[in-house]
Amino acid sequence: MAKPLAFVAGFPVAHSRSPMIHRYWLELYRIDGGYDAIEVRPEAFAQFLQDLAAGRTGFIGGNVTIPHKEAAFRMADFADELATELGASNTMWMEDGRLCAMNTDGYGFAANLDQAAPGWKAGKTAAILGAGGASRAVIQTVRDSGFTTIHVVNRTLERARELADRFGDAVFAHPLPALKEVVEQADLFVNTTSLGMSGENPLPPLYLDRLAADAVVTDIVYVPLQTPVLEQASKLGLRTVDGLGMLLHQAAPGFEKWFGKRPEVTEELKAMIVKDL
Ligand code: ATR
Repeated sequence: MAKPLAFVAGFPVAHSRSPMIHRYWLELYRIDGGYDAIEVRPEAFAQFLQDLAAGRTGFIGGNVTIPHKEAAFRMADFADELATELGASNTMWMEDGRLCAMNTDGYGFAANLDQAAPGWKAGKTAAILGAGGASRAVIQTVRDSGFTTIHVVNRTLERARELADRFGDAVFAHPLPALKEVVEQADLFVNTTSLGMSGENPLPPLYLDRLAADAVVTDIVYVPLQTPVLEQASKLGLRTVDGLGMLLHQAAPGFEKWFGKRPEVTEELKAMIVKDL
């Protein structure tokens, strides 16, 4: 049998760290497989997926990145719950002749916290900063993890309201100044924005000093590893979890689908990617 080959398809794709992650695991587990980055132009993506489904590409599945995530979801015969919620998929595989798609961002988010802040699921109240696509994945995951009150705080209140309407009961929308009250109740604080990352994008008051001493603060941004939000939280002595783990963990379900082994996110892997950031 030919050796299993997986891909990451994007346009551009050179920046993708997926090959480094998956090749590390292939070597670690001595699996005779391959993982390639391939540049697929937007207009060629539909044909690429048809060829994949028909077994004409030599690939058994792969990751999709910008700008193909929405098309990947639309073209799949099956999509998991999070991909359906987001209308976007990052991982594809073939099963029983069907082209399948999932979105592993939520899994990556939760698995990162499981590893770096065990017990985080005991929390009931979350404060989520930001209301974009990344925020939606986090809301769904936090809710599925047992949180019963989820405060979404956003510069544009309307966007937070849309999410609160969409998700229903447990999700509440607030403007930025409301952080002052929201933070006080939160067991988990998640930043999903690029706030504080550049000069013209200064960090507004986050009131992290009002968090409970055992609260967990995490960021889904991982460049730099220590974001301004995490830096503030660390200085206050709070438990912090960086976003790099999310990137690494979100790769694991795909690897298992293609190569039959659920891989571990090791410190060695993390160190290797940190060196490359
Ligand atoms: P993604 O899909 O990665 O989440 P996005 O949809 O562009 O990206 O969302 C970015 C988030 O960061 C939004 O919540 C955005 O707030 P708005 O909805 O008000 O635009 C937030 N954000 C980005 N820059 C910001 C800034 N300078 N101040 C406050 N919020 C900011």
